[in-house]
Amino acid sequence: MSIMKIFIDTADTDEIRKCHATGLIDGVTTNPSLIMKSGRDPEEVYQEIADIGVRDISMEVVGDADHMISEGIRLHQKFGDCATIKVPCTPDGLLACSALSRKVIPVNVTLIFSAAQAILAAKAGAKYVSPFIGRLDDNSIAGLEVVRSISAVYKEHKVGTKILAASLREVNRVTRAFWNGAKICTMPPKVFHDMYNHILTEKGLEIFDRDWAAVHPKAKVGGDLDALDIGDIYITGLGDNGGVTTPIPGTDISSGYPGLYPEMIQNPDDDTLKINLS
Ligand code: G3P
Repeated sequence: MSIMKIFIDTADTDEIRKCHATGLIDGVTTNPSLIMKSGRDPEEVYQEIADIGVRDISMEVVGDADHMISEGIRLHQKFGDCATIKVPCTPDGLLACSALSRKVIPVNVTLIFSAAQAILAAKAGAKYVSPFIGRLDDNSIAGLEVVRSISAVYKEHKVGTKILAASLREVNRVTRAFWNGAKICTMPPKVFHDMYNHILTEKGLEIFDRDWAAVHPKAKVGGDLDALDIGDIYITGLGDNGGVTTPIPGTDISSGYPGLYPEMIQNPDDDTLKINLS
């Protein structure tokens, strides 16, 4: 298992596609509420997620133990190794967990709100336990402390079950959940995208872009472009920030502007650029 796995908690396949394209996503979790929100057939959603290339998809089953077991087996047969069967932390759910785990079908025990529940799930052979951080916090119980307790118990007893922290609604909770021993965090797409952000990164990038533009000025194209001839193009409006690069009619810029830099000549007197494209 690689370090710090990130799962996306949604049944919105467009969002999953975008997140997966970053190359940083290790799995997807769904639940009946998320499937309902998608307005689609669950198995159609699972198939699309598998086709996107997601290799670990939590698919929730409901009903009594027998039904959860038969559904879990059927889903695992249908979707293969990418199917993780999600069951609730109830007597029926944990009976199903034991039966499926004995068949080497991975199980994610969900709706975990205490270390005691996580102990039972581990004894039932769960691959993952999903403590719901946000919902604990909603009820004035420190969700991250529950993660810490589960982690301490599992470590003390060398338990192989992994903590998959869920109901994470902000970046800080994700970081702290990993800090407190979660091996996987599942989060809505927005929280994943927010993980990239920091105000100092934005500010720093602004400065780097401005300084880079001073070294390699990008051009803002002005004037009547159609009237210009290739080989002798003047571009005006070069400001402090470089401005916006705009395709020049009749030119092949498929390799991008950097290829043109050696041929850019800046006139310091009137702040114009001459670009020789010939
Ligand atoms: O994975 C569990 C998650 O979907 C629950 O999140 O925000 O509804 O508590 P939330």
